Amino acid sequence: MTRQKIIAGNWKMNGSLSSIEKLISGLRSVAENFDSQVIVSPSHPYLSNVSQLLSGSSIKLAAQNASHETSGAFTGETSVSMLQDFAVDYVLVGHSERRALYGETDDVVAKKTAAILSGELTPILCIGETLEERQKGITVDVCNTQINTVVELVGVEAFKNIVIAYEPVWAIGTGLSATAEQAQEIHKAVRNNLAALNADIGNGVKILYGGSVKASNSADLFAMPDIDGALVGGASLDVDEFVGIIKSAG
Ligand code: PGA
Repeated sequence: MTRQKIIAGNWKMNGSLSSIEKLISGLRSVAENFDSQVIVSPSHPYLSNVSQLLSGSSIKLAAQNASHETSGAFTGETSVSMLQDFAVDYVLVGHSERRALYGETDDVVAKKTAAILSGELTPILCIGETLEERQKGITVDVCNTQINTVVELVGVEAFKNIVIAYEPVWAIGTGLSATAEQAQEIHKAVRNNLAALNADIGNGVKILYGGSVKASNSADLFAMPDIDGALVGGASLDVDEFVGIIKSAG
């Protein structure tokens, strides 16, 4: 099965209005010339501006977080319906920084995924093991448990509308990317886990790799049969690097 590649930039808590304008103008002309779906994910205050800057382009907009609550006394939170007001298409959920720094458990991640799906936005569900878990040899179990908690709440069919991002925690922001072979092994195991529940879903689900992806290692990763693109942090803030990654995906 051919799966369209996705190259998603996760800007995290970086950027300013002027740096974002420059980034988007550099990306707009390039994104149209390649087959991959390009996505950018600014911090919430910039969603409105970025949504306008992307108007008429093929680049899609992602939010970095959403609440699983619909409205009410949740200071500092953003609901899915608020994101809908700004033409957001995707929402990152379960990023390891949110799991580690903001205490998001697998259950919370599952509830957020359900809320994002109810708002007809596409969750980019991030999974991945810590270095300690890798050294213990439990990487596949950890990743599949993270996924299965979501499956239990929303059902396997819902993965038709979910993108998975496998991001080993030890590779995020460290410059230490997983090798293409290491990543492929986990992508295949995650796909097989879903395929055992529903073959079509397993074959169709897009699984991105994230963790120190740059223009110099992206082509090797994208050559792997189960790697359907990348979730890019640091390198997505540099137009030339990000464009290099988009080009390497074809
Ligand atoms: P990185 O981050 O590319 O800077 O390692 C990836 C991510 O956290 O999504």
